Amino acid sequence: MAVEVKMPQLGLTMEEGTVSKWIKNEGDTVKVGDILLEITTDKLTSEVASEAEGTLIKIVAGEGEDVPVKGILAYIGQAGEVVGGAAPASTAAPVAAPAPKKDGKTTVAVIGGGPGGYVAAIRAAQLGGEVTLIEKNKLGGTCLNVGCIPTKVLLHSAEALAEAKEMAELGINVEVKGVDWNKVQAKKNGVTNQLVSGVSGLMKANKIKVIEGVASFASKDTLTVTKKDGTKENLTFDKIIIAAGSVPAVPPIPGVKENANCVDSTGALSFETVPKSLLVIGGGVIGIELATAYSRFGTEVTVVEAMSKLLPMMDGELTAQLRKMMEARGIKIMTDAKVQSVEAAGSATKVNVEVSGNVEAFTAEKVLVAVGRRTDTEALNLDAVGIANDRGRISVNDKMETSIANVYAIGDCLGKVMLAHVASAQGEIAAENALGEDVLYDGTTNPSCVYTDPEFAGVGLTEEKAKEMGIDFQVGKFPLMANGKSLIMNGGVGMIKFIIGKEYKEVLGVHILGPRATDLIGECALAIGMEATVEDIFATIHAHPTVTEAVREAALAAEKRAIHIPNK
Ligand code: FAD
Ligand code: NAI
Repeated sequence: MAVEVKMPQLGLTMEEGTVSKWIKNEGDTVKVGDILLEITTDKLTSEVASEAEGTLIKIVAGEGEDVPVKGILAYIGQAGEVVGGAAPASTAAPVAAPAPKKDGKTTVAVIGGGPGGYVAAIRAAQLGGEVTLIEKNKLGGTCLNVGCIPTKVLLHSAEALAEAKEMAELGINVEVKGVDWNKVQAKKNGVTNQLVSGVSGLMKANKIKVIEGVASFASKDTLTVTKKDGTKENLTFDKIIIAAGSVPAVPPIPGVKENANCVDSTGALSFETVPKSLLVIGGGVIGIELATAYSRFGTEVTVVEAMSKLLPMMDGELTAQLRKMMEARGIKIMTDAKVQSVEAAGSATKVNVEVSGNVEAFTAEKVLVAVGRRTDTEALNLDAVGIANDRGRISVNDKMETSIANVYAIGDCLGKVMLAHVASAQGEIAAENALGEDVLYDGTTNPSCVYTDPEFAGVGLTEEKAKEMGIDFQVGKFPLMANGKSLIMNGGVGMIKFIIGKEYKEVLGVHILGPRATDLIGECALAIGMEATVEDIFATIHAHPTVTEAVREAALAAEKRAIHIPNK
């Protein structure tokens, strides 16, 4: 019985490939592993090896032909055996022709100046749009003012403090006198202000008009902008990109709203002094990053998480390792724990937490409420103009188009993946489509990064997700204890883990807990985007001594050929 040779799936995003060259001809005898043909996708060229022994009896997809993944390319069997069937026609949807650009300049409004909005504005200006950006608060949005950047400044100071305390181990004698909190705050504000003024400079350089005010839809193409002095102006545009972002969610826990010691992430960035004790409600990204920072500053930290694990979207095995490291540092962590209520206890706050059916009371000087964020779309008047949304979360397609023609939405205001780099990537897509291109957003290469100590990053599928999807995969792990640079940097704490497809060895996911994890993940995201196999990682020479060597070693480990650890 003849065996089918099929178009392989070389990556999660691959839908079809093109037969670029047949190496074997009809009638040739082939062995397992012989290269039969070369295929190309829009990203790479790859060889297809024979998985059977026999004669190449029939080639059904000729050179230059596009064949969907799993479509039949040829048959291998006994010489003279008769087989039928041609490769199924490509199922990929035809790509629409780019929309023609209008004569003159397309006028574009961007609502919100965060990393989604300001990037969309710059891209639209690069493509020839006449762009107006409307911001009700400060350019840079959540990210630069009260999000990514200020948290990382606090984390950097906290880490420097921890390192300073360990200097003696490196042969350096320093006297650590503690934390000058005012200087930490000044550093945070300085970095933030510098970046915000950088965005302002970029707006000027790209001839983008910035209006301070709150935008609201008056009709599908007209915005009413309410300025700080209360005056209103109606402005009409060809295209509108909504990048209104998000704000902290306030859970309906009795006592939270009324208690001044309960703060959200914005409040926790600017405490007047380092609190003696901090209870964090929510073991997600904000909770874990700020718990790490304040614990390093000397605060007694307790984290209460309702789910069974911290950081629900990250790889479970590495999350468990991170939890142990945080606990070893003195952070108390409770999972499967729900906060029932919060009440005043003198100048401090009592938090009643239900754990395993019992209610335990914890007292803390400050309480950080970090249970997620909600979209900031109330002022936009979405329903009145018919922009489809689910309780304020704006619905879009892959072109970032809303239900209304010429109106796009991006970033946190979609209420899905709330990350700065996602908002920016979507901003570029929306701007390009608004200016007549035809491009789709693809989140496959989106890395998740947690700036803990050590850092934690992941891209692609976690082991849990691959199992849930029923994918046949193998795992490669490399402990950083066996990597020279990691040993120098943090004593070799952490691990790198590869998830690869069993059949085609494509990189499905990479998860890193260790020094510089958030930088290392870039190579892994590129690998996933390029539909690379582990062979591509093996073939790339990684510099020595670096932590990147451990990325290659973890890929090698998946094939039981790691060099610096015994392969089990
Ligand atoms: P935003 O940054 O929220 O910007 C929206 C802007 O729109 C705001 O400036 C707002 O004032 C304005 N606006 C809203 N409505 C109107 C209106 N009607 N008219 C005019 N203007 C309006 N992400 C990461 O990727 N990495 C991190 O390390 C990271 N750390 C974070 C730490 C914290 C503490 C927080 C809170 C978030 C963090 N994030 C991080 C998430 C990141 O900040 C957001 O995903 C990102 O800012 C979203 O960008 P955006 O442009 O969609 O929205
Ligand atoms: P989150 O969604 O990451 O985590 C919230 C956590 O709170 C969840 O684990 C949830 O189970 C838990 N929770 C909810 N209700 C609870 C309750 N009543 N009691 C105890 N636990 C409860 O949200 P978070 O941390 O507020 O962050 C908001 C957004 O900001 C995230 O979507 C994230 O993407 C973004 N962010 C990204 C960062 C990064 O990329 N490094 C850093 C900080 C924030």
